[in-house]
Amino acid sequence: MTLFSRPRRLRRTPIIRDLVTETSFRLNGLIQPYFVTEGKSIHEEIAGLPGIFRESPDALVKSVSDDLKLGIQKIMLFGVTERKDAMASSSMDDRNPVIAATRQLKQKFGDDLFIGADVCLCAYTDTGHCGVTVNDRIDNDRSVEVLAEMALALAKAGVDCVAPSDMMDGRVGAIRERLEESGFHDTLIMAYTAKYASAYYGPFREAAKSAPGKGDRKGYQMDLRNRTEALRELQLDDQEGADIVMVKPALAYLDIISDFKNHSALPVAAYNVSGEYTAVKLMAQAGLADEKLMVLENLTAIQRAGASIILTYHLRDILRNGWQHA
Ligand code: PBG
Ligand code: ZN
Repeated sequence: MTLFSRPRRLRRTPIIRDLVTETSFRLNGLIQPYFVTEGKSIHEEIAGLPGIFRESPDALVKSVSDDLKLGIQKIMLFGVTERKDAMASSSMDDRNPVIAATRQLKQKFGDDLFIGADVCLCAYTDTGHCGVTVNDRIDNDRSVEVLAEMALALAKAGVDCVAPSDMMDGRVGAIRERLEESGFHDTLIMAYTAKYASAYYGPFREAAKSAPGKGDRKGYQMDLRNRTEALRELQLDDQEGADIVMVKPALAYLDIISDFKNHSALPVAAYNVSGEYTAVKLMAQAGLADEKLMVLENLTAIQRAGASIILTYHLRDILRNGWQHA
């Protein structure tokens, strides 16, 4: 055959393949999530998230110190508590585990550690919903007031970044206003801009003890059949003062990540969620596929789609095993 175009010429050797690669796996944008609970000396593995733990603040400080030596400099904290009530008051009080842990971490590590914290009410409401319930309905505006207070409490404790994951309307603007008027001009907002109602959050809800008692989250999280609607959320979060916009989950939503990259000047993040992580873990444990190859394939695909930042439970494994050196 006389073929003028033979794409395989560029695939012949590893050196040629490296020469023409369009995406290189980038470690710098990865953030490791942690679960913090009340108490002392608690370090329990989460059943649905192999290798991920629920820890009390003292144990967390120890884990984060070890992880820092490994190279993990960016973390995201999620609170877990049994203290739940109608108005989510434990989301911002002094006994809140995330607030307690942040104070200790900031004192110890200062700017050597980047601390993000989830801003949502589902771990703190007695209903397990992401907003507060008033007259049997999730009250958007009351929820936003509570969320803004929670964000301020976290900023005061010392977090570098707040990450609202609740999907109430107007919360990014309200949080930004509350932070600005209180002098927290440098606190980043990483908005969960397009957060879809997904089955892939299953292991997280067990980990955070945050499953809704009644009903589901479809009244506030996005409908997975919609794509253009994500651009509306993007426009709003950008206008309201977000610094980083996030798509969640990641793997079934690469089109949304790509849209964000093409329609916004802000850094785009993606959340490689609990179900995506555990699917890989279970497949690896069953000996059906290579864990390193699955992890690198998934994370590279998310970066190729346009995300420069990825929240992923795999980060510790990547560094421990040296998987970043393909
Ligand atoms: C809380 C929150 C959830 C996740 C992050 N923040 C769960 C949910 O919305 O039900 C999911 C993270 C994961 O699955 O890893 N709003
Ligand atoms: Zn929530």
